[in-house]
Amino acid sequence: MNAEALSAAPILTVAGAVHAYGGRPVLRGVDLALGRGEIYALLGPNGAGKTTLIRTLCGRIRPDGGTVRLNGRDPARVAAARAGLGLVPQEIALYANLTVGENLRTFAALAGMPHRQIAAAVERALALTRTADRAGVPVKHLSGGYQRRANIAAAIVHAPSLLILDEPTVGVDIDAREAVDAVIRGLRDLGVAILLTTHDLDQAEALADRVGFLREGRMVLEGEPKALLAEAFGTQMEVLVHLSGTPDAAAEAQLAAEGLARTRQPSVWTRLDADGYAVAGTLDRRLRQVGLAPREIRVRQPSLANLFTRLAEQEPAA
Ligand SMILES: Nc1ncnc2c1ncn2[C@@H]1O[C@H](COP(=O)(O)OP(=O)(O)OP(=O)(O)O)[C@@H](O)[C@H]1O
Ligand SMILES: [Mg+2]
Repeated sequence: MNAEALSAAPILTVAGAVHAYGGRPVLRGVDLALGRGEIYALLGPNGAGKTTLIRTLCGRIRPDGGTVRLNGRDPARVAAARAGLGLVPQEIALYANLTVGENLRTFAALAGMPHRQIAAAVERALALTRTADRAGVPVKHLSGGYQRRANIAAAIVHAPSLLILDEPTVGVDIDAREAVDAVIRGLRDLGVAILLTTHDLDQAEALADRVGFLREGRMVLEGEPKALLAEAFGTQMEVLVHLSGTPDAAAEAQLAAEGLARTRQPSVWTRLDADGYAVAGTLDRRLRQVGLAPREIRVRQPSLANLFTRLAEQEPAA
């Protein structure tokens, strides 16, 4: 985030947002502020309340308590406030039989844009999302990556100051993901405030100026990825041990005795230590002695995935 963004009034502010579904609290007092040209990644386990918070920001849910202001106005009460917002839903929300250009003209008209401004707005959205070379192609004939970017184009054709993306790259391959990330960065550089949810922590770490961890309706940690990692882990390194197969119960006990914890992959085990390289050497020798020769050992800086695991393991505050 640059100095200009810091000094400018925030585009979005949420203060003490509270919401319950049928008496069950889902948002328990969420604060959030987002400035011009800032990318914010909202993280948290399934059911944490991320989509509920987004629906609150879009004015689709009026919170039971607290305030939401988009460019100073309440999106749940002031329809004009919602014009400042573009939403990219998780599912592709385009007319499959229409071309990309026809879709964008339709979305611009639906946003209430005057007829004479539509052609230029469509050109701009195509350029910003790098979809101009497919403008004449029906959406149903596009690759997954182009569909994702066309979905973003539809959300920005009316030039919103805040763009919200719910899981923008779920289920797309790495090349398409990088293309989507590049589009998001380009919009950020133009001053658009960007809020995205993702379960891809590597994407969040690479893309976001700030991240927030939502858990059971509370923001439990927020900040710049690098600063959060430095605070949580200091000079510790992560040692990742790749085994050649899935360990049996006895082998698992031996790995645990070496201070290693299972990752999501049963054949990959992890440990944090300030002296990561020395630990890697010791682990290699000791695991070989018990017949668990590692296929590979990597030493790397801790990532948001390590932080996320640590937060998930902590007891939620009462
Ligand atoms: N319309 C609804 N009515 C009742 N309960 C709901 C409704 N929508 C969501 N919930 C519940 O509210 C909680 C928060 O849901 P939400 O969809 O906001 O979570 P999320 O963080 O977006 O999760 P995910 O990562 O799975 O998308 C969940 O327990 C969910 O079951
Ligand atoms: Mg969700």
